[in-house]
Amino acid sequence: MLNILLLEDDPEDAELIRCSLLDSEVHMQMSVASTKEQYLSALGRKQVDLILSDFSLPGFDGWEALRSARQRRPEAPFIFVSGTMGEETAIRALKRGATDYILKDRLARLAPSVRRAVDEARRQRELKRIRGERRRLHRIIETTPDFVAIMDSDCRIVYLNPQGRRMLGIGQEALPAPTAGDPGYEWASRIMEAEKLRVAALKGAWIGESTLISRSGREIPVSQVVIAHKDQAGEIEYFSTLCRNVESLKQSQIALENSQKQLRELAGHLQDIREEERARVSRDIHDEFGQSLTAIRMGLSWLQKRLADAPASLAKLQQMEQLVDQTIQAVRRIVSQLRPAILDDLGLFAAIAWQAREFQKQTGIACEVEIDPMDPTDLVGQNMTIALFRIFQETMTNAARHAQATCLRVHCSVVGDRLVLRVEDDGIGISRQEASDPRSFGLVGLKERVVLLGGHVSIRGKPGKGTKVAVTIPLSGNKGRPCES
Ligand SMILES: Nc1ncnc2c1ncn2[C@@H]1O[C@H](COP(=O)(O)OP(=O)(O)OP(=O)(O)O)[C@@H](O)[C@H]1O
Ligand SMILES: [Mg+2]
Repeated sequence: MLNILLLEDDPEDAELIRCSLLDSEVHMQMSVASTKEQYLSALGRKQVDLILSDFSLPGFDGWEALRSARQRRPEAPFIFVSGTMGEETAIRALKRGATDYILKDRLARLAPSVRRAVDEARRQRELKRIRGERRRLHRIIETTPDFVAIMDSDCRIVYLNPQGRRMLGIGQEALPAPTAGDPGYEWASRIMEAEKLRVAALKGAWIGESTLISRSGREIPVSQVVIAHKDQAGEIEYFSTLCRNVESLKQSQIALENSQKQLRELAGHLQDIREEERARVSRDIHDEFGQSLTAIRMGLSWLQKRLADAPASLAKLQQMEQLVDQTIQAVRRIVSQLRPAILDDLGLFAAIAWQAREFQKQTGIACEVEIDPMDPTDLVGQNMTIALFRIFQETMTNAARHAQATCLRVHCSVVGDRLVLRVEDDGIGISRQEASDPRSFGLVGLKERVVLLGGHVSIRGKPGKGTKVAVTIPLSGNKGRPCES
């Protein structure tokens, strides 16, 4: 619906104009102003899509009406509808911003003129909107801290935004620049390499990491998107690209990786030291206490023979002998916990089987052990056997402490180049959060040991069903780093 403002002091003429438009089926709402005041007030207040104005009015003339309309409603078309308008005046009116003029005795021309004017006004509005949008987009592209370039269908870089020019050191140099490997234009050919264009043409876009090169030959790592823009027939019109400099990101990534590697090495070193220390303490306890206790035990036996006729002293001696036997057992237990000799004597898998039996004895939790007859101890370094044994001990201890399990299934085997250790319990099941909590230090240490050996670990729990810890370690590459014992 068109809102038309008509400035006309003659009611009959006003009616004629209204009827002429209605007869031609112009959908409109018309408000009529017959004085200067009414006209100015309507211009200020109402929605006005088009203005029709008489030329000669008492106390107010067409020029003034036109001037006010141009000031207040610059977008609304303005058509003079006049009984008396010479050709010269009409031309002057058009020059001053009127859209058209119609003589009252030719009112048949009015409706087509109104339609044309409205269409043109709409087109102008749309054009203005598009121009505004283009201006805004251009400003965004020109000020963005990312690199933006456009390549035409003849493979020439036709646009490079200021950030792109800065990154590549191109200055205000005129474009287009060839990308077909012309000498001196490597910077341009790097932006749109053939492979990126091929993928973009095929799939619409290429997204990835790449390296641009500046005019001076400096390499710049970027994360890049190349987009192929096609016309309606599917032919490529041009390619655009957006690149983000990831140099500092890359540097921090490298620094982070280095520091993680250092931390891992430090953790490995600390583990080694811990194992060495345990081995030393275990040796000392074994040698010092073991020998002394055996000597005491022998001494007690000697005394026993000589005190056969003193029953009270004999009973005391027997008590002491029992105590010494218990202490010898305790020392053996401590020594084997610190550094299971069985690990060195029988190898990893046998040590695991022994540990499982011990576990069953101590906790009452049944242990089903399934072990590959082929023991890998000779294939791998000592650090790996100790690490795996400690991993196994941690899973057993966890099962006893947290799982409320009644049964434990242990599986050890060598599959191809990999050693597999699986421990499953039938307890309450570890939660996902507990399994990945950085404060679960037992599990963190376990994972750290596996990572140091280049292996993989999965810790999964099912509520009420149990927990499964599966460790896989490659055998090759773990022969080195022997641990002193
Ligand atoms: N087999 C299991 N069944 C159920 N929950 C478990 C099991 N193993 C571990 N959890 C849960 O995961 C948590 C973290 O285990 P983690 O071994 O890291 O720590 P911890 O055993 O409590 O202490 P420690 O540092 O002495 O090992 C445990 O506190 C427990 O809640
Ligand atoms: Mg634990």
